[in-house]
Amino acid sequence: MLTQVFIRLLLSAYISLIALQQTHAANILAIFPFPGPSQYICVQAYLKALAARGHEVTVISAFPQKKSLQNFRDISIAEVLDGYEETIVDVITEERNKWQELNLYYDFFTGGTLSVLKSAKVQELLQSNEHFDLIIVEAIQLDAIYALAHHYNALLIGVSTYGTDPTIDELVGNTSPISYVPLPLSQLSDRMNFWQRLQNLWHHLLHQMHMHLFYLPNQAAIHKQYFPNSTADIYAVRKNFSLVLLNQHFSISFPRPYVPNAIEVAGMHISQRAGKLPTDIANFIRDAKQGAIYFSLGSNVKSKNLSKEKLETLMRVFASLPYNILWKFEATELPNKPPNVYINKWFAQSDILAQPNVKLFISHAGLLSTTEAIHHAKPLVGMPVFFDQFLNMERIKRAGIGVFVDYKSFTYDELRSAIVEVMENPKYTQTIQQMSRRYHDQPMKPLDKAIFWTEYVLRHGGAPHMRVTAQELNFIQYHSLDTLLVLIGGAMLVLLMPSWFVYRNVRRLLLGDCGKTKLKHN
Ligand SMILES: *[C@@H]1O[C@H](CO)[C@@H](O)[C@H](O)[C@H]1NC(C)=O
Ligand SMILES: *[C@@H]1O[C@H](CO)[C@@H](O)[C@H](O)[C@H]1NC(C)=O
Ligand SMILES: *[C@@H]1O[C@H](CO)[C@@H](O)[C@H](O)[C@H]1NC(C)=O
Repeated sequence: MLTQVFIRLLLSAYISLIALQQTHAANILAIFPFPGPSQYICVQAYLKALAARGHEVTVISAFPQKKSLQNFRDISIAEVLDGYEETIVDVITEERNKWQELNLYYDFFTGGTLSVLKSAKVQELLQSNEHFDLIIVEAIQLDAIYALAHHYNALLIGVSTYGTDPTIDELVGNTSPISYVPLPLSQLSDRMNFWQRLQNLWHHLLHQMHMHLFYLPNQAAIHKQYFPNSTADIYAVRKNFSLVLLNQHFSISFPRPYVPNAIEVAGMHISQRAGKLPTDIANFIRDAKQGAIYFSLGSNVKSKNLSKEKLETLMRVFASLPYNILWKFEATELPNKPPNVYINKWFAQSDILAQPNVKLFISHAGLLSTTEAIHHAKPLVGMPVFFDQFLNMERIKRAGIGVFVDYKSFTYDELRSAIVEVMENPKYTQTIQQMSRRYHDQPMKPLDKAIFWTEYVLRHGGAPHMRVTAQELNFIQYHSLDTLLVLIGGAMLVLLMPSWFVYRNVRRLLLGDCGKTKLKHN
């Protein structure tokens, strides 16, 4: 046993060494400022893997490691967690139109930007003489922070925890044709009818307007405030990304175009080796004669804050089912808990889903959870709550790998029949198994891919040869407005000239002598 562990350690150290031979160990600063735990879970394995390969990694986030790790330093901004639960409750309960929604996220992202720059510990780091070769930043409306790349004269990599949208596209000059690529916050799929395409176009325009009228000027102002002497132009910095890693993959969403330095890495957070479960949980799953169910509404929605009616409905449904249910529930007490329900504040979700006897995942349809469900081929009952979860749910429904239940208004019958449908109708499991096979059929594991491209960028000084020239063109050039104008102008001239001659000759024929006679009379 011990020798095995020892050999494995030696082996992994050796593999890291040969891999690093070509790439110099870099000093990396990673900034993931948001209080939503899933956004950090998405990148944690990636950042740790970089450290394990010999890079010096410094991470600014709200989630410092509990145990210290080699080559890994945390700069905690845990203060951003204050008031976060209230924000989430507000996001979930308030109805908003598109513009208000954009404002909401704008406030949220501005808060995220400021929480980094205001932090005394971050300021201390900035004042120090420490140098970084590479900045890895959450690609989500944080331009004043992107500018740190300029501050350190470092390379810049973005990680998007959901996929791409118009703001992220601009970082690498990516194209998302609005006719078949829906905005992540819409509930549209890639196949849109006329009205849906109209809606997508309209929302796209609102998005662009909001971005250029409010978000970017605001980020420029924040940058000016915190770096009064900086010569960086945040509009130039945001076009200077070497790479964006996108938590997406065509096998779990839909195919779409990407520029060469936009790389899909969905699933990079999932460990390839399932961990061992605690004995009582393993037994609870194994003892379920007709299968076990895992139920979690994610890290943002707290089950303990569900209304009394919702809790009561959930328990009545669970009690009526012949399955064992693991429920991620954040309190220690659940009065009247049915005997076939096991509650815990936290479960090793991926390890649970890896169990063959777990047959169904009742989920908020967050992207990480959805990806884990597909990774482990477990069908879903989805209860989306906010942000991109509705879009994920739309894909789940379309793909036929799960059934939707309305979180806001579900009844006993709706929830129960959804669970029974997915448990007893084999088509959901079969479909997600097929999807899972497609997702796993890749030349590289997602995490290896993320590491490969990160080090590729380091090896090739930012890999400018991978960037499309779109980044050097202005709006008019990019959209070919100047050349179009010349072409259309030319076409009009060519068309109009003969018409003009025809018109002149016809006019002369008709009016010909008459005109002259008139003139004479005058
Ligand atoms: C969640 O519920 C607890 C009581 O169980 C309450 O004190 C707290 O304010 C609630 N949180 C939110 C964000 O509503
Ligand atoms: C900006 O430059 C001025 C003049 O050189 C200097 O006094 C000031 O400390 C600098 N501010 C910062 C934040 O570096
Ligand atoms: C863009 O990045 C390169 C390094 O890859 C750097 O030399 C250059 O100054 C950056 N430009 C801007 C505008 O930040």
